[in-house]
Amino acid sequence: MNQGQNPINVAVIGSGRMGGHHVRTAAKVSSSNLLAVVDVDIAKAKVLADQYGCDACKDVPELLSRFPQVQACIVSVPTVFHVAVAQPLLAKGIACLVEKPLAPTPQEAQKLSDLATTHNTVLQVGHTERFNPGLRSVAALNLKPRFMDVQRVSPMTFRSLDIGVVMDMMIHDLDIVLHLAGSKLKNVHAVGTSIISEHEDICNARLIFESGCVANITASRMALTTERRMRLFSEDAFVNLDYATRSGIIVRKSAHTDQLDEIRELVTCGKDLSDMKYTDLVGVEPLSFDLPEGHEDQLTAQLDCFLESVREGKPAVVDGDAGVAAVQAAKWIVQSIHENQWQADPTSVAY
Ligand SMILES: NC(=O)c1ccc[n+]([C@@H]2O[C@H](COP(=O)([O-])OP(=O)(O)OC[C@H]3O[C@@H](n4cnc5c(N)ncnc54)[C@H](O)[C@@H]3O)[C@@H](O)[C@H]2O)c1
Repeated sequence: MNQGQNPINVAVIGSGRMGGHHVRTAAKVSSSNLLAVVDVDIAKAKVLADQYGCDACKDVPELLSRFPQVQACIVSVPTVFHVAVAQPLLAKGIACLVEKPLAPTPQEAQKLSDLATTHNTVLQVGHTERFNPGLRSVAALNLKPRFMDVQRVSPMTFRSLDIGVVMDMMIHDLDIVLHLAGSKLKNVHAVGTSIISEHEDICNARLIFESGCVANITASRMALTTERRMRLFSEDAFVNLDYATRSGIIVRKSAHTDQLDEIRELVTCGKDLSDMKYTDLVGVEPLSFDLPEGHEDQLTAQLDCFLESVREGKPAVVDGDAGVAAVQAAKWIVQSIHENQWQADPTSVAY
């Protein structure tokens, strides 16, 4: 924020696990003036409010009557309540940063997106991974991906069991691959199974885009280790990005033009290259994970970006359309899981 600009009046709604992170972030970012924490569990809201020097309210009507100057809200309540909480705010023209997924169904997500448009206010969706500095470096390369292979697996945390792994974890990657593919989704084939919850706990989905790009995404909350990675293949480069360890590499085709010509010629001449060490030939560049100044983590970058949109009337970086698209893709995947349920082969012989 430039000096001389007034901070935006902010409230955080929901003082649970994510809400706590948002309150801490909103209290420290200079572009925000944190007014209040809102939670139906007022005792929880008060603990955070006392810790960060703001007020506590029990619900949105109390927030609006006590703090009519509120300009922006961070909605961090369970997904089933996103519409009920965000609707009256957007209808008053108050900007909202709504946690991911935007809503439980595409219809409800669309409703929020339309409300923001009608009331000419900012709606940003909390797809925080978009603010991962490594992913930002990849997006800035403007590659045209042909194939993306994505894994997001972790041990069971026994949280968010009211939703399946697709809406809980894969939604992050759906937003990312939709963003990077830059093309409409044409077809989906998914398999999944439930192990502990009544929803799918493991899923593998193959997404085919109109451009011909394919994304193969695996999500599991039943793994023994945590892995969050993406490999992206395009005509011009290969990228390997590890979200968890914040490391990654790029191999650019343009950096190997002469070597590739030489090797093609040797191959054409029938030369035996089996002694050649392939990995010595490949020039690997580290992917930059530098955060812009003042953005020491993804939540800070996300909030700053949201408040900049509010202040300058700019469209959100992850807008309502992106939130709707991710929920639509998730719904398609869950439908596909049900269509592809494992069936015992009736022709198989039991021993
Ligand atoms: N971006 C991420 O990486 C990420 C990670 C985890 C969760 N999330 C999302 O964050 C949101 C919150 O998840 P959480 O894990 O913090 O949940 P949580 O259960 O820990 O906290 C939710 C809080 O909201 C309060 N609440 C419920 N209904 C309310 C209402 N109508 N008005 C005010 N307060 C209300 C509850 O009392 C609770 O304190 C969900 O949408 C979830 O999908 C995002």
